[in-house]
Amino acid sequence: MTSTRPYPAALAYEALLDPAHRHDPYPCFAELAAEPIQRIGEHRWVVSRHADITALLRDPRLSAQDELEGDPPPGSDGRPFRGPFLKVDPPHHDTLREQAMHQFMPRVLGLGPRIEAMVGALLDRHRSTGPGELDVVTALAYPLPVAVICELLGVPAEEEPVFHSFAERLTRALDPVETLSAQERADLQGTLADWRAYLLPMIAQRHDRPGPDLVSGLLTAGDPETRMNTVELASTLGLLLIAGHETTVNLIANGTLALLRHPEVLDRLRADPGLAPAVVEEVLRYDPPVQLTARRATADLRVAGRVVPAGDDVLLLLAAGNRDPRRFADPDRFWPQRPGNAHLAFGGGVHYCFGAALARMEGQAALSAIATRLANPRLAVDPPPYRANMLLRGPARLRIAFDAVTG
Ligand code: HEM
Repeated sequence: MTSTRPYPAALAYEALLDPAHRHDPYPCFAELAAEPIQRIGEHRWVVSRHADITALLRDPRLSAQDELEGDPPPGSDGRPFRGPFLKVDPPHHDTLREQAMHQFMPRVLGLGPRIEAMVGALLDRHRSTGPGELDVVTALAYPLPVAVICELLGVPAEEEPVFHSFAERLTRALDPVETLSAQERADLQGTLADWRAYLLPMIAQRHDRPGPDLVSGLLTAGDPETRMNTVELASTLGLLLIAGHETTVNLIANGTLALLRHPEVLDRLRADPGLAPAVVEEVLRYDPPVQLTARRATADLRVAGRVVPAGDDVLLLLAAGNRDPRRFADPDRFWPQRPGNAHLAFGGGVHYCFGAALARMEGQAALSAIATRLANPRLAVDPPPYRANMLLRGPARLRIAFDAVTG
C-alpha cells in the first residue's frame, strides 16, 4: 500500500479491481474521472474523458503491443512473430487485420436471419405455458456467440464445448497483467500452447481440403508472400474467439439486466422491435462489456495539461468516457432515444472493434427475443453474481422469472 500513497487515485483504481465492486463499478469510475487524467502508479495513468480517450485511441504515439505471447513459437516460418492483431501495432497490424476482415465481413453480412433462428432455437428449449425461471447467461448469452463463431469458422457443433472452454481460459489474457498471479500467467502460456495444439490438425485439414469457411479462406486467399502463417492464423482465430465471445455474452446479459431494471423500456421494445438498435447502442454506452483498454506511450505525451513520459502505461477508461457529462446529457440514465450516442464501447482508431457489426446483430436478436417471447420477465436476483474479470465485465448468472415463454 505504501507504494501507492503518492498517488491518491490509486485507491479508486484498486477499488475498481476489487471484486466487491464488480456489480457497480461506476462510483469508482466517477471518482477516477474527477480529473481528466490521474496517475495511479510510478508509470501508470488513467484517462477518463470522452474527448481525450477518443483522441488517444487514434494517436500513433500510443502502442498496443503486448509481450504476453513471448518468443516466436515453432511454426512461425522464421518470420518475425506477429501475435493477435489486437496487440500488434501498424504496419503489421494492418496486414493481419485486412486479411481477416476480407474473409470475415462478407460471411457476417448475410448472417442476420441465421442468428435470429439460433436465438429462437435456444429459447425454444425453455418454451413454457406456465411460470418458470431461466438463467439468461447459460440459456442464451453464452451459447449464442460461440455457436455463431463456430459456424463462421466451420467448426462442427459437437466441438462447441471445446471452444467454450478455451474462450473462458483465454479471456484472462485480456485482463490487466497486475490482476494475474504468477500461476495464472503460467497457466495462460499453457492455454495458448494447448490452443495451438488443438487448432493445428484443423488448420492442416483445411489446408489439404479447403471449404467455404473462414479458416479455408485465410489459408488460400491473397498473396502467398504476405499470407498469415499457421501460428499467426491460430493466434487470429484465438483472438476472434475471445474478442467475440465474452464481450457479446456481456452485451446480452448487461442488456437484459438493463431492460429488466427499466420495465418501461422493455415495454417499448416489446411494442416496437424497431427500437432494438437504439437499445443495443444504449446498453453499449451505459454498461459496456469492455470497460477499459491499455496502451503504452512511445513518446512523451501531453494529455489534459499533464506530461505522460515515454514508456508509461495509459489506461483508457471507456466506461468512464461513456458517462462523461461533457459528452452525454444525463449520463447515468438508461435512455435509448438519446441523441448522438457516440459511445466508446467498441474503442476507436486502428483497433476499432473488428466484430462490431456482428455484435450488434447478436445483441439486437437476443434482446428483441427476450422482450417479445418472455411473458412478464423479471429479475429473480438483483444484483446478480458477477464473474471475476474486471476488463470484460458481466454477470456470471442472470436468473429471471417469467409467466410463460411463448413460441
Ligand atoms: C458487444 C460486443 C463487443 C464489444 C463491446 C467489443 C469491444 C471491442 C473493443 C473495445 C475493441 C478495441 C480494443 C482496443 O482498442 O484495445 C475491440 C477490438 C476487437 N474486437 Fe471487439 N467487441 C465486441 C465483439 C466482437 C466480436 C463479435 C468480434 C469478432 C467475432 C470482435 C473482434 C474484435 C477484434 C478482432 C478486435 C481487434 C481489432 C484490432 O486490433 O484491429 N469483437 N472490440
